[in-house]
This record gives sequence, structure tokens and C-alpha cells, in this order.
Amino acid sequence: MSENILGLKRTKLCGEFTKDDIGKVVTVMGWVQRSRNKGSLIFVDLRDRTGIIQIVFDEDKCNSDIFKKASELKFEYVVAVVGEVCKRSDINEKIPTGYIEIIPTELRILSESDVLPFPIEDEINTREELRLQYRYLDLRRTPLKNNIMIRSKIAMAYRNFLSEEGFIEIETPTFCKSTPEGARDYLVPSRVNPGKFYALPQSPQLYKQLLMVSGFDKYFQIARCYRDEDLRADRQPEFTQVDMELSFADVDDVINLNERLIQYIFAKVCNIEIKIPFKRLDWEDAMDLYGSDKPDLRFDMKITDISEIAKNSNFTVFSNAIINNDTVRCLKLTNGANMSRKKIDAYIEFAKEYGLAGLSYIGISEEGDIKSSFIKYVNEDEINAIFDKTKCNKGDILFIAADSKKKVSQALGALRLKLAEDYNLIDESKFEFLWVVNFPLFEYSEEENRLVAMHHPFTSVCDKDIDLLFTDPGKCKAKAYDIVLNGNEIGGGSVRIHQPEIQNRMFEILGFTKEKAEEQFGFLLNAFKYGVPPHAGLAYGLDRVAMLISHAKSIRDVIAFPKTKDASCLMVETPSEVDKKQLDDLNIQIKNR
Ligand code: AMO
Repeated sequence: MSENILGLKRTKLCGEFTKDDIGKVVTVMGWVQRSRNKGSLIFVDLRDRTGIIQIVFDEDKCNSDIFKKASELKFEYVVAVVGEVCKRSDINEKIPTGYIEIIPTELRILSESDVLPFPIEDEINTREELRLQYRYLDLRRTPLKNNIMIRSKIAMAYRNFLSEEGFIEIETPTFCKSTPEGARDYLVPSRVNPGKFYALPQSPQLYKQLLMVSGFDKYFQIARCYRDEDLRADRQPEFTQVDMELSFADVDDVINLNERLIQYIFAKVCNIEIKIPFKRLDWEDAMDLYGSDKPDLRFDMKITDISEIAKNSNFTVFSNAIINNDTVRCLKLTNGANMSRKKIDAYIEFAKEYGLAGLSYIGISEEGDIKSSFIKYVNEDEINAIFDKTKCNKGDILFIAADSKKKVSQALGALRLKLAEDYNLIDESKFEFLWVVNFPLFEYSEEENRLVAMHHPFTSVCDKDIDLLFTDPGKCKAKAYDIVLNGNEIGGGSVRIHQPEIQNRMFEILGFTKEKAEEQFGFLLNAFKYGVPPHAGLAYGLDRVAMLISHAKSIRDVIAFPKTKDASCLMVETPSEVDKKQLDDLNIQIKNR
């Protein structure tokens, strides 16, 4: 039978007791982490979110009812204990409360627990599906619980810093208008407007721009966002942005502010000093040197372009690539030449997954022996030129890709990360920040056979490229920036278009007729008629920031109730079917049900 809490109040949380409490009579409450029955002594570890404290029931010292009750305690029972804090004889230096224990005078079992589906321990092998089904139990485990607490600290630090800087926290709607040019929307049917739908926000982008038109000057919000896209380890269908917008600001204003913000967060949350300013890389250089728009700079290993050498090669894979206007580039693994043929083949297969027909290699052993897939086609001068250009020394190996710039970057970018992981080149304790700037304004969509916005249609063109917007828009660079941490895009933003004629031109390039632009974005274009301050902003993926700071492997590990890869929640079993009556109310009929 569960008892009630009447009259009892916790003195402190379990993990907060120290040697200073010795001699005090206290009340603690929590979960039974474990109970060891040693005959006349029962040791109970009592746990709450702050840690563990040991309770010792001694048959000779405590009353027989209490001792009997203590002998019935099982994993995860919730109990209240009154007792005296005493010095422990068997000190446990592994836990902060390891110098003390509580000798009880009262024990109440507040709630019992069934047998658990998995143990509440730091390291368990339980499959993630089961853990997600019982997420409330999984969250009791220290690693997950700590992640959630770190996340809370991060959110608090964002709030404190931004409000200190004069930002105003403003909420924007979650029932929005479906607009094109993003990911797929999550739609909400309207009962009172049959056949019409709201869209859940992919981000508060347009609202924050309208708040600038309203004159709020500096806005921020911790906002839930929803995107119906393919999920990955760093993506969730609903996620959280720390969203901000500033009036009368340009690229450097946003970047400088955010460097100080990051410095503040790391100091407050993990007591780590982050050096600013961060490196800045043009998007094009990031792609050329690292094969990625979010390069991991915790290790070096840059891609080297050897097209100049390859164009005169007798190896036709190289020379034909140059004739076809493609490129020949390579990656060097220092001290990698002694890898087995099998391993080399595995890396070649890996590169093929990224669209390459193959990968050439050349390595030179410590003794000076060369092993290469193309040695018989090339002369010594060419090999020396390649080694010179790539600073390839004895012991090193080069992987060489010949194909379009895009495919080579994709494949070598991925191979770079794979090699770093396989050869332990990454210092996991490092936090390497980077701004990627000067993105292309547009990218060409093969699928839609037109230019699409690389960030979103409200992104400003770089000042020097304004004319190009009217002559050769595909060449325009954007006043857009991404903030990258350890190879993850943790945030992105841009200076916005604030001139209606440029915004209209943007829609025109994206293939909108005047009518369509009016129908989709009329509210914004209208607002822009009434005095718009130049403005810029940025949004962080809070989940990603929390994932990196807490060294979690997946974004799910920093979200209290995350979704699985197919966007469902195994705990509450959603999405789920709904009653026919509900559908009728919404005027909705399900096809082929
Ligand atoms: P963007 O689309 O780059 O920009 O999003 C900003 C940041 O949000 C995070 N993010 C995600 N995190 C988890 N799951 C997802 N599915 C997901 N999608 C994005 C990333 C990303 O950098 N309105 C603009 C911002 C602006 O221009 O001010 C925007 O939403 O960390």
C-alpha cells in the first residue's frame, strides 16, 4: 500500500547533502536505485535528479516495522526517509555524497514499481525502440537526464544573454500559412473553414521580418519548428530554434553579436573559454578545400586540386576529366600508405556511394616503394609533381577523384570524415567554430528545372552582385552565413531583402508570376510598402547545440520526447488514426482506408 507524504517536506535534494550536514535530522525523498540486503543491514541508494544518497537500515538500531518495510523495497519504489546524516565508514569517493549516509528513523513507501522493462543504469544495451516506448524511465538514467539539464542551461543562457543585449522575446503563431520554397509543411485542417489548412511553421522567418517592420528592433524567440523532411541523426520533424532578428544590421553585426553569444553560453554552461573571432570561409572555399559546406575543422586534411597536373596525364581517367571540364582532386592520409589492399578497396566502394565511378590511389611506403592503381600509365615526373603539389611524403597515401566538381566534393568530403573517424584524427574534446559565408544566392534544381533559393527567398544579394540579379542571377552570392561547430551546421541566417523591387525580382527569378507571389507572400510585400528597416537575423538549432555540448551521439538524446526515424512517437503511439466523426467535422475523407 502506498502511503502519503502528509507532514513531510524534503530538506534538500539527494545529491545536495555534504559533510556539513553531519548530525542534522533531515527528510529525503526519491527512487530506490538499488537495495542491498546484508542480513542485519540493508543499504539503499536513494536517487533523484541531483544524485544518490545512501540510507542504511540497521536491524539493531531502527524499529522493527521500519526494518521490515526496508526489506520489501524494490527497484524504483518511491520513498520518503527521515533520519540523521552520519559520517560513512566505507567512504565512496566516486560519488559526491560518498562521505555520508542517512540513518533512518522513519520510512514511508510513497509508490511502488512494477518490474522494469530495462534497468535504470548509466550503461545499458537495451534497444532504442524499447527505451523510447518507456521514455519516462529512460529519462531517469543519468546520461539522458544530464543532457536534458544541460539543454535547459543552454536555453537559459541564450535567454539571459539576448535579453541583456536588449532583445525582446516575442511569440509568433504556430498556425501559419503554407508557403512554398521550403521543406514539406505539416498541415492542420481548419474545421470552421472547410477545405482550408494552416501550416505549422518551418521557422518564424516571415513573422520576425514583420516584427522588424513593426519597429521591435531586436527580437528573439525559442521557437518550435516543424518540417516534414527525411530524418537523419541530426534532424527531427519538430525541433527548436533560437531565432533572432535585428534591425539596421549587416553581416558583421550579426556575426559579432553571435560570437559573443557563443562565448557566453560556453562559459556559463560548461566553463569553457571560446576564442573569438571565429574563422570565416567562403562557401566556395569550404566546398573546394573540405568538400562540405559545414567542414569539421577539428582536423586538417584538405582536398588538393591537381587538375593542372592531370590535364597532361597519360592516364586517360585524369586527362579526359579535364577535357570534359571536370576536375581531378585528391585527399592525403598522412601515414596511411601501409593500409591493406582490402581497406583501400573498401574506401573506393565508399566513394562510389557518393556517385563517383571509382577512386584512384597512390601511396609511398616508408621504404620508398610505390603502390598505385595507375602507376603503369604515368611517368616519374608526373608522380613527383603530384607528390610535390600534395606534400605527399614517405608513408602517406593519396586518394584521387576525377569527376564533376560537385561529385568530387561530395565524395572526398565524405571520405575525409570517414578517414578521420577510422584513423582517430578527431580530438573529441575540441570545439571548432567556423562561419561559412558568401553562399550562392541560388542553386539549380535538376528536378524542377529552375533556380531555387539556397537559403530562402528573403535573402539579400551581396552588394557587389546586385546588377547580376538582373543579368545572370545564377552567379549571385548571398549575404548569408552559417555557423558551423565540429562539422555540424548549428545555425544559419542572412541579411534580408528590404526593398520591395528586389523582393519582387527574387520571386520572378524563382518562377513566381506576379499573381502567385501576391497570393503567397502578399502580406509581406504589402508590409514592405510602409517603411522597412534594413534587417538581418539568424536561427540556431537548439537541439544540435545541446547535442554537441553534451557530446550526445544523436539529436534524440537531447530531446525529452523525440520522434523516431519515421516521425512517430513510440511512447504515446502517434501518429494515430482518428474517429470518423473527427474527420467528418473537418470535411476530410481518407483515401483507401
Ligand atoms: P535554417 O533552415 O538554416 O534557417 O534553420 C536554422 C537551424 O535550425 C536547425 N535545423 C534543424 N534542427 C533539427 N532538425 C531539423 N529538421 C532542422 N532543420 C534545421 C539547424 C539550422 O542551422 N529562418 C531561417 C533562419 C534565418 O534565416 O534567420 C532558418 O530557419 O541547426
